[in-house]
Amino acid sequence: MKQKTWWSVAVCGVLLALLGLVPAAQAQEEDTTVVTPPATAQEKMKQMTVCTTCHDETEKKPILAFFQHPHGSLGDPRTPVCQTCHGESKKHLDGAQTPDGVRPPPDRVFGRTRTSTAQYEPASPQVQSEVCLSCHKGSLRMRWPGSQHESNDVACTNCHLNHNPVDSVRDRLEQPSVCFTCHKEKRAEFNKISHMPLENGKVICSDCHNPHGSPGPKLLVKNTVTETCFTCHADKRGPFLWEHQAATEDCTNCHNPHGSNITPLLKDRPPFLCESCHNGPHNSVTATGSSAGGIQSGGVAAGGNPSVMVTGRACLNCHVMVHGSNSPAGAFLHR
Ligand code: HEC
Ligand code: HEC
Ligand code: HEC
Ligand code: HEC
Ligand code: HEC
Ligand code: HEC
Ligand code: HEC
Ligand code: HEC
Ligand code: HEC
Ligand code: HEC
Repeated sequence: MKQKTWWSVAVCGVLLALLGLVPAAQAQEEDTTVVTPPATAQEKMKQMTVCTTCHDETEKKPILAFFQHPHGSLGDPRTPVCQTCHGESKKHLDGAQTPDGVRPPPDRVFGRTRTSTAQYEPASPQVQSEVCLSCHKGSLRMRWPGSQHESNDVACTNCHLNHNPVDSVRDRLEQPSVCFTCHKEKRAEFNKISHMPLENGKVICSDCHNPHGSPGPKLLVKNTVTETCFTCHADKRGPFLWEHQAATEDCTNCHNPHGSNITPLLKDRPPFLCESCHNGPHNSVTATGSSAGGIQSGGVAAGGNPSVMVTGRACLNCHVMVHGSNSPAGAFLHR
């Protein structure tokens, strides 16, 4: 931070006057409206020097890395300038010290899970997000209003970084760690033996979730769980000659989508998994064997070895097509 000098303030004043900003600022004391960025790269650069005379590369935080973000591409007439987001910030520019010796804050202070070491209180989440939405309303953010994040006071800037060359939440390798800062229990799930391959960014949160809002449950990218899973596991979609109603309805009847200690991502171990819905078919709960599935029972002697219902792959010893079968003889999901 350079020392404030009389001439820098003068330059700021001249620039502001040149750009016709001063009258607007006088008209409205606490102006947090979005300042429309100028059209040309040259004008943009000029307007930004209002702030960059003080906030330069000597700053502890990487303020000027802003120019490595798509927002910093000056040639694009749609990109913002400092004051678009932070507000005109007249009082901050004037620099009159408050009684406690602090420069008044800019009109809009953002915060990303800010700690108390910050100089200024961040604006409310709504005020923070409003400016971003002024340019980024549609597409993925169609359902932001009323979404789980919006209504729980999560702001755009809780996830997105604007002054870093890399916006970690949009980096496939780094995204999960951003989500885990708040969703700690999910980190534990992904550490289980069987888990979606987050490593190397193979499958990441935003493959299944749209954090900006969704028409379906749990911020899923599609309307239902099954539709979400089918985006990658198309083979499970069918159509099947013999469907298994449990799988047609909801994959999470049997799978935990994040992780589990039972391979592959199962909520429980067969036969218990199956018996949570099937109440002991062919005497499967009395694990004595011999009575199962007629001639396909495996022929375990009564009172002898453990039942084929519980050993090996349990129910899957015979019912291999748990997701549905296309064999004409697959009514019982055997083949
Ligand atoms: C005359 C010097 C000066 C100018 C010009 C200036 N600032 Fe500041 N700004 C400061 C000082 C001093 C601080 C106190 C915190 C610090 O040390 O970074 C500050 C703090 C901030 C902070 C908050 C930092 C924090 O840690 O909470 C933001 C955001 C900010 N300025 C944005 C702007 C914007 C946007 C402009 C242009 C409209 C601008 N500033 C122009 C001197 C200036
Ligand atoms: C797209 C909106 C946007 C624009 C444009 C923008 N900023 Fe920021 N600024 C933010 C957000 C959001 C933060 C909070 C930290 C973060 O997300 O990286 C921030 C933080 C800051 C801080 C405080 C540092 C900190 O880490 O808290 C300063 C100082 C600052 N901006 C100055 C500027 C200056 C100078 C410019 C113009 C070169 C500018 N900003 C342009 C959104 C913006
Ligand atoms: C004045 C309009 C404007 C404002 C305000 C604005 N942005 Fe942007 N933003 C843009 C433009 C233009 C791009 C470049 C888009 C492109 O290349 O398609 C962009 C790019 C982005 C990208 C990267 C998209 C990509 O494809 O790389 C993110 C993330 C983003 N903005 C988030 C934000 C957030 C968060 C805020 C609020 C702190 C914000 N923006 C405020 C106009 C704006
Ligand atoms: C909970 C975290 C989170 C929040 C909150 C969030 N985003 Fe995002 N954003 C993401 C992730 C993750 C992606 C990458 C999505 C993808 O690639 O499908 C993304 C992508 C984007 C993009 C680039 C892709 C595109 O749509 O062009 C923009 C722009 C963007 N977000 C703007 C915003 C704005 C504006 C807000 C606030 C209204 C916001 N985001 C709130 C996590 C978040
Ligand atoms: C700043 C904290 C924060 C961050 C960062 C964050 N979330 Fe959230 N998330 C919340 C809060 C708060 C809720 C609403 C309360 C709840 O259900 O836990 C929520 C809700 C959700 C829900 C819906 C839960 C439900 O029961 O409907 C999903 C899914 C979700 N977040 C995914 C993500 C993903 C994916 C990311 C990273 C891209 C992310 N979140 C980043 C705070 C956060
Ligand atoms: C393979 C798809 C998939 C991936 C990848 C994924 N999720 Fe989920 N997530 C789901 C489904 C499906 C649900 C709904 C679970 C249910 O209803 O039982 C869910 C639910 C949630 C919930 C709501 C609470 C709960 O457990 O019901 C949160 C929070 C969440 N996910 C966060 C995350 C985060 C953070 C990541 C990345 C680290 C992530 N998810 C990755 C599919 C996925
Ligand atoms: C973005 C693509 C994608 C989506 C969406 C997706 N998966 Fe996966 N899934 C994968 C990949 C990649 C693997 C790992 C395959 C491998 O290692 O051979 C996998 C593996 C699995 C496995 C086997 C795990 C193991 O240990 O062998 C199960 C079960 C599974 N997914 C269920 C689901 C369910 C349920 C959903 C919906 C909630 C879902 N998947 C959504 C890509 C996806
Ligand atoms: C009735 C319980 C059940 C339901 C519902 C279910 N699965 Fe499975 N799934 C299993 C079992 C059991 C295995 C292990 C199969 C094996 O070891 O042969 C498995 C294995 C998998 C595998 C890894 C092996 C393979 O076949 O590719 C994937 C991927 C998978 N399931 C995806 C899904 C998807 C997607 C859905 C929703 C459409 C779904 N499952 C619904 C029980 C179920
Ligand atoms: C969430 C509940 C649920 C779970 C868990 C479940 N099923 Fe099913 N299953 C059903 C329903 C519902 C039907 C259709 C029943 C009907 O039509 O009478 C069905 C049908 C079947 C059928 C065909 C029977 C017929 O008459 O059409 C077989 C075989 C079967 N399940 C085996 C299994 C196996 C093996 C498992 C464990 C891997 C399992 N199921 C787990 C709910 C479940
Ligand atoms: C040794 C092979 C075998 C094993 C192991 C097996 N089944 Fe079956 N199952 C069959 C055969 C064969 C049928 C066809 C009807 C019959 O002959 O009883 C059948 C039919 C069914 C049916 C539909 C008819 C009914 O009785 O409701 C369900 C549901 C079922 N099995 C579920 C299960 C479950 C759950 C398990 C695990 C606890 C299991 N099966 C283990 C062979 C087996």
